[in-house]
Amino acid sequence: MPKPIYVLNGANLNLVGVREPTIYGTETLEDIRRRTETRARNLGLEVDFRQSNAEGELVNWIQEAREQADGIVLNAGAYTHTSVAILDALNAANRPVIELHLSNVFRREPFRHTSYVTPAAQGLICGFGPKGYELAIEAMADLLAKTASSAGAKR
Ligand code: DQA
Repeated sequence: MPKPIYVLNGANLNLVGVREPTIYGTETLEDIRRRTETRARNLGLEVDFRQSNAEGELVNWIQEAREQADGIVLNAGAYTHTSVAILDALNAANRPVIELHLSNVFRREPFRHTSYVTPAAQGLICGFGPKGYELAIEAMADLLAKTASSAGAKR
């Protein structure tokens, strides 16, 4: 049975749309949730879209994904640049991970150029604003299709 893709959003992403709109745009997280779910539905996938400002809650959700999700799309917000706990949880999850950011973190302050998520991720999408969520779902659909076909070939 296919499981949902967890799309997890970290600190301050609840404020997207009002927070620094020149960097993050004017779409709210609710708008982004809708466009992510629509793209997923068109690809025959289900999404479980969540946001938390608490690092421990994100760790709990990543642990939950081990059993309950087929893949993880993660915009960890500022925890990207600080959280060994999130990296450890991702490494334990044994699920494909796509790292995501609205902004192009590499055009910004040097402290945003370091990511604790990248070592656990198949790939990274950044700089495309809300469209990045749709791109991440498309990339995840490809990853899951490849995994399913190589599992089929082994059978
Ligand atoms: C962000 C980039 C992070 O550096 C920042 O702390 C965020 C949002 C993004 O989506 O561009 O909160 O992850």
